[in-house]
Amino acid sequence: MSGFKENFLWGGATAANQIEGAYLEDGKGLSVYDIVTVGSHTNPRRITPIISEENFYPSRVAIDHYHRYKEDIALFAEMGFKAYRLSISWSRIYPNGDDEKPNEKGLKFYDDIFKELKKYNIEPVVTISHSDIPLAIATKYQSWTNKKVIDLYVKYAKTLFERYSEYVTYWLPFNEINNMFLSLSALGQGAMFPKEECTFQGQPDDFEMRMKALKNIFIASAKAVIAGKEINDKFHFGTMICHITRYPRTCHPDDVLSVFKNDLFYNNTCSDIMLKGEYPFYTLNEFKNRGIDIELTDEDKQILKEGVCDYYTFSYYQSISESTLDFNEQTSGNIMGGIKNPYLKETEWDWPIDPVGLRYTLLKVYDRYKVPVMITENGIGCRDVLNDDGTIHDPYRIEYIKDHIVEMEKAVNDGVDLIGYMAWGCIDLVSVSTGEMKKRYGFIYVDTDDLGNGSFKRYKKDSFNWYKKVIESNGEIR
Ligand code: BG6
Repeated sequence: MSGFKENFLWGGATAANQIEGAYLEDGKGLSVYDIVTVGSHTNPRRITPIISEENFYPSRVAIDHYHRYKEDIALFAEMGFKAYRLSISWSRIYPNGDDEKPNEKGLKFYDDIFKELKKYNIEPVVTISHSDIPLAIATKYQSWTNKKVIDLYVKYAKTLFERYSEYVTYWLPFNEINNMFLSLSALGQGAMFPKEECTFQGQPDDFEMRMKALKNIFIASAKAVIAGKEINDKFHFGTMICHITRYPRTCHPDDVLSVFKNDLFYNNTCSDIMLKGEYPFYTLNEFKNRGIDIELTDEDKQILKEGVCDYYTFSYYQSISESTLDFNEQTSGNIMGGIKNPYLKETEWDWPIDPVGLRYTLLKVYDRYKVPVMITENGIGCRDVLNDDGTIHDPYRIEYIKDHIVEMEKAVNDGVDLIGYMAWGCIDLVSVSTGEMKKRYGFIYVDTDDLGNGSFKRYKKDSFNWYKKVIESNGEIR
């Protein structure tokens, strides 16, 4: 018998803007991702406020899940998924973000998805905002810099709570909420929307404005939690942290101290606020040192206290190493890279591979919060080859996930209350950082390329049957 709980939630995760396509169908409005072009590992994606039909915008087509969700969910069920993490497209429900009434056809689409999941006893885990907001909110309100967006979000969240109360228990108010801490404006959660064309990584930035916008996001999240619990006290709300696990590159005390402080600031601030209900002292102090006033009122403090989450979830792809000394070789990564770690291999996209880092992270976050923990993203983006006979051999993906599951079980045996594992991109989807399709994460191959050509036919990779056995044996066979 494996160490995992009997009712462990094995599953996979996706996001609306990376799978749905059908970007203007049935009343959907434009989302910020509908104006981001395709890029590559060496050629950055571009945000184009003025839309040019010469560009290719991958989210508009994605993998056409909008029309093929039944087939996709049937494949998840065939793998034995106990849970499926999906996100709802805000601009499908409120096309302009500030519409008086929701778009019934958009709501109906998710009714159908939830009914289909229920048919197979798959538990939905729903992200309310996966870095993906209606474009009109970005252009008209300048996104989260504007306090009015808090009410728009809460109205949207309440619409979902009321409509899907009978289907959904697990909610995640925001995907990777700490991205705003880590990097520029993080588009969908954007602090500042670019007025002119710029690269994805070259968005206009202002740290103070970003921190004020982030405060609005926390208030929106807490208000949604409060409203959700009034609608259904069985709802569970989770954090969703992009956990960038950090190591000192050397044992120089300056390196150790600097990594410790960065970990507090970048990894813990957001989960401390969402689980402990207040801004931590080190973050407030850091703001003071930088001369930043986020204008935190007593009313804000009260809302944050009342709207705390119930469980901790995070994405984990890699660790990074950092140093105050000079090291030349760099790695890339999810949101940010670091200095090359000589003990780790890297993916083709230069993301370090570190399964032991997952055990370390699980112990670290459970020790800090003592609430149930769920891994809501983990996986490896690779180039896959579709053979003439329809097979796809992906031993590298099996190896990556297997090694992470081994470390997860060790963490469970260490005493961590781990309740679920959602493999990222359980079906191939559009990569956020590069916009490519060829950077594939799935157990299911989708026959389309970086420019949306192809049959969109679904094929099972070797990892499909392997993951099925993992789930069947509750993690014992791997
Ligand atoms: C996470 C995001 O940061 O990383 C996902 O929540 C994203 O949406 C994933 O797809 C992997 O990153 P990428 O750039 O390979 O798609």
